[in-house]
Amino acid sequence: MRQLLYISTATPGTTIDTVGILAASLRNNRREGVTGLLWTDDRRFLQVLEGEDAAVQGVFDRIKADPRHRAIVVLHDRTIAVREFGAWEMARRGPSDTSDAFDTKMRHHLAAASPAVRGTFEGLIAARRAA
Ligand SMILES: Cc1cc2nc3c(=O)[nH]c(=O)nc-3n(C[C@H](O)[C@H](O)[C@H](O)COP(=O)(O)O)c2cc1C
Repeated sequence: MRQLLYISTATPGTTIDTVGILAASLRNNRREGVTGLLWTDDRRFLQVLEGEDAAVQGVFDRIKADPRHRAIVVLHDRTIAVREFGAWEMARRGPSDTSDAFDTKMRHHLAAASPAVRGTFEGLIAARRAA
């Protein structure tokens, strides 16, 4: 089982259709047995993908080719024994969303994640809070 974590930046001038991305992800990832978490604040994306090696590669190849984001950097790419994210989730933090409810939700999503993955998400969320 493979776990891949990347970060990217929304292409300037692009309106991010989070509903559309979520719909495509639910449809495709379920079919391919890929689970994970996509976090966005509409400017940056942090996504973890988990599944069989070839399935993760196929999904990631499509994502990499998507012109709506750029500067895609792989932060982790490793073999895992069991999934840390059992379902497909997407978490979006809007510019005016300052409530702690979002952080509580993220902590729930990240409960089973390894320290490295959790730390990466929490670092980005903390930076978003401070911005
Ligand atoms: C940040 C980001 C994350 C995405 N994540 C996924 C994903 O996990 N699974 C997926 O199928 N498509 C994802 N997409 C969308 C793909 O790039 C692509 O548009 C989609 O897979 C096309 O699916 P379709 O041919 O079924 O319409 C993502 C796009 C962006 C910009």
